[in-house]
Amino acid sequence: NFKPRVFSGIQPSGGLTLGNYLGALKRFAQKQDEGIETIYCLVDLHAITVWQDPEALRRQTREAAAAFIASGVDPARSILFNQSQVSAHAELAWALNCVARLGWMNRMTQFKDKAGKNAEKASLGLYAYPALMAADILVYHATMVPVGEDQKQHVELTRDIAAKFNHDFKVDFFPAPEPLIEGTATRVMSLRDGTKKMSKSDPSDASRINLTDDADTIAKKIRKATTDPAELPGEIEGLKDRPEARNLVNIYAALADMTPAQVLGEYGGKGFGTFKPALADLAVEKLSPISTEMARLMADPTEIDQILGQGADKADAIARPILAQTYDIMGM
Ligand code: ADP
Ligand code: NA
Repeated sequence: NFKPRVFSGIQPSGGLTLGNYLGALKRFAQKQDEGIETIYCLVDLHAITVWQDPEALRRQTREAAAAFIASGVDPARSILFNQSQVSAHAELAWALNCVARLGWMNRMTQFKDKAGKNAEKASLGLYAYPALMAADILVYHATMVPVGEDQKQHVELTRDIAAKFNHDFKVDFFPAPEPLIEGTATRVMSLRDGTKKMSKSDPSDASRINLTDDADTIAKKIRKATTDPAELPGEIEGLKDRPEARNLVNIYAALADMTPAQVLGEYGGKGFGTFKPALADLAVEKLSPISTEMARLMADPTEIDQILGQGADKADAIARPILAQTYDIMGM
């Protein structure tokens, strides 16, 4: 009984990576072709849960918007905006803070990872982050949330919050949004350590490919990626205990729109001396148009600011009535 609607977001907390592209941006663009309404957000209110330099945040927000557009998110077909410009997100988040239970929040693994050993020093916002994310999704009555694997627990929490709200107030008001974790790149791993996810917050720049890296840098990072000395296997099962090899095969597959089995059909029996240069060429071919378009958009941010302003108006027109109904249901 809920209209299909896609919502997802990305933090403008630093340069975006190949992981963000394959796990999120590329799929955001694909969703536009499925005839579903798509709403995409730069979640700056999430970014400030850890310290952000104000000037850097302003620049990174525009850069993230440029990355969305350069990756194929079309402002004419999707709503693209900045979270802090649509105040209904923060307002609904407060109401949902009062629905979510402390015990649920205590189970969130991302908080534990990000807060580290000294959780007493983490901001209250970092702890409440998943309730704000629930608000981001529910304030549009979104039914589908394309994300990488690391965000699955937060979308499940969103479902729990929606269900508790509906139960407590005896309504069928919020949908139970589905996490869409699809494709071969739901968790792109670090190029230096096959057990860690590729992340913009990793201190080692060699561990990731940034969307702004030039062709030489991309090729060098792939050439230096940690691998074992064996040849690539002919079958998927042969990648089972080889996380670094599996990661590179998955990246190739996602970039080429192939299955990992098809990639091994082509490269099985060949060594990394052959596979790495082929992967580097493919990555450069797919990523250089993105970095070129990002540079063009960043040269004059007027266009980006205009797109984000119009997006905020469109988002507000959907979110404001849903927030008003929520308050009304709660007696406010
Ligand atoms: P990050 O985790 O890089 O700080 P965000 O938390 O803003 O970035 O995540 C933005 C989106 O990118 C989310 O949907 C997240 O699941 C996805 N994502 C982030 N890193 C990866 C990765 N290494 N592989 C696949 N998807 C990823
Ligand atoms: Na993340």
